[in-house]
Amino acid sequence: MTHLIASLRIRALGVAVRLVPAPTPFMLTGPGSSIELARLIADRGARSVLVVTDQVLVELEVVTPVLNALKAAGLAVTVFSEVEPDPTIDIVMAGIEQLRASGATAVLAVGGGSPIDAAKAMIACHASGRRPQDLDGYFKVRAPVVPFFAVPTTAGSGSEVTVGAVVSDPGAGRKFTIVDNKLVPKAIALDPNLMVGLPPHVTAATGMDALTHAIESNLSTLATPATRALSVAAARAIFRDLPRACEDGRDIAARQSLAVASCLAGLAITRASIGYVHAIAHQLGPLYHLPHGYLNAILLPYVLDFYVDGAASRMAELARACGLGPSGENPASEDPRSLALSLVAAIRSLNASVGIPPTIEQIADADIPEIVRRALAEAHGTYPVPMYMSAADCATIVQRAAGRVMVAATDDRSRAPGARPEKEDI
Ligand SMILES: NC(=O)c1ccc[n+]([C@@H]2O[C@H](COP(=O)([O-])OP(=O)(O)OC[C@H]3O[C@@H](n4cnc5c(N)ncnc54)[C@H](O)[C@@H]3O)[C@@H](O)[C@H]2O)c1
Ligand SMILES: [Fe+2]
Repeated sequence: MTHLIASLRIRALGVAVRLVPAPTPFMLTGPGSSIELARLIADRGARSVLVVTDQVLVELEVVTPVLNALKAAGLAVTVFSEVEPDPTIDIVMAGIEQLRASGATAVLAVGGGSPIDAAKAMIACHASGRRPQDLDGYFKVRAPVVPFFAVPTTAGSGSEVTVGAVVSDPGAGRKFTIVDNKLVPKAIALDPNLMVGLPPHVTAATGMDALTHAIESNLSTLATPATRALSVAAARAIFRDLPRACEDGRDIAARQSLAVASCLAGLAITRASIGYVHAIAHQLGPLYHLPHGYLNAILLPYVLDFYVDGAASRMAELARACGLGPSGENPASEDPRSLALSLVAAIRSLNASVGIPPTIEQIADADIPEIVRRALAEAHGTYPVPMYMSAADCATIVQRAAGRVMVAATDDRSRAPGARPEKEDI
């Protein structure tokens, strides 16, 4: 697709986004809010509920207090706990079977992005009598869905407020997204109590996913002052609180702040969408079985290096809003490029402080051309990126992220604009 056609499609998407208002769920927040949500589901007239979760959350008993609260509220409860990270078409199909068999009058997802997305895909397919892959794309759910509720247990995907459900198709080695306003939950609970046992490496990867949402939506050509306010609030909180939550998982204030931040970033991407970081990560995830947030975290600074050339002033605004960059002693150093580089350096330093490595060693050279082809096919005409990249640009980014190309450090302010270092050692 030429960049002209891609940008025309994005303009049309922008019009559609303005015309079709995305619903937002009723939000409960704070320690114990998941218990309140259980009561609210009963109050809204449900008689029986299917809880969609995963085996880890059952074994760690993260989901137990919510199940008890649902039962105490007089609801019949069935549990579907077969969801695995990056849920596949088969997992969703198994869930639909259980939804049909249970006759549940409400669905509650308790988990990270994987159980929430699986539940969204299940209700979409259940309502429309179609398979997940038939609903790939925009607004194909034509019948009302069963009332849907969610309790995120990671502070990452923001799926509890987004219109999308990401499903993996291992046969085709890809992920696809079902996008429909009907997939937004009726009500959600952001309950930090459920997040205290999230291990540091998962806290780090999921938090960096949320930061990627905040940054990609902020730099999007569909961003508005309202979405920028959401994404800046999210980014500031993540820069401040992610290291705290990784260091001490029981820090309830940090957990609460991150839960709200990932939700705000989710609201921002619902209006302003994502970008190249996600487009590339979506190809690497199914290929190398690495977590979504972990891949985004590593790719983010490399994609931003590329943007320094053409989107420095937007990046500089974001850096300023996040309180990054030179202290102000030397105003000359606060030029947009310097601030943009400060943003990228801050992300590299945040990654390092939460234990995320700078490269993805698993990427095989032979896979790169196909990764690039698929990433650009996903991004162009779909994501409102601030500047377009060629296949060669994208290949360089993937090679760098793979550690094949020695990268001059971002804080080498003397480097020429653009993605390419002066000297590339392979
Ligand atoms: N729909 C959207 O808008 C959207 C946006 C971004 C990502 N996603 C999707 O979300 C998925 C990733 O979600 P995720 O990053 O939240 O991870 P996840 O749901 O895959 O969970 C990751 C791991 O953490 C464990 N875990 C979750 N909560 C826990 C807790 N409180 N304590 C201990 N362990 C816990 C899970 O059992 C799992 O093993 C991907 O499939 C991605 O494509 C969707
Ligand atoms: Fe994401």
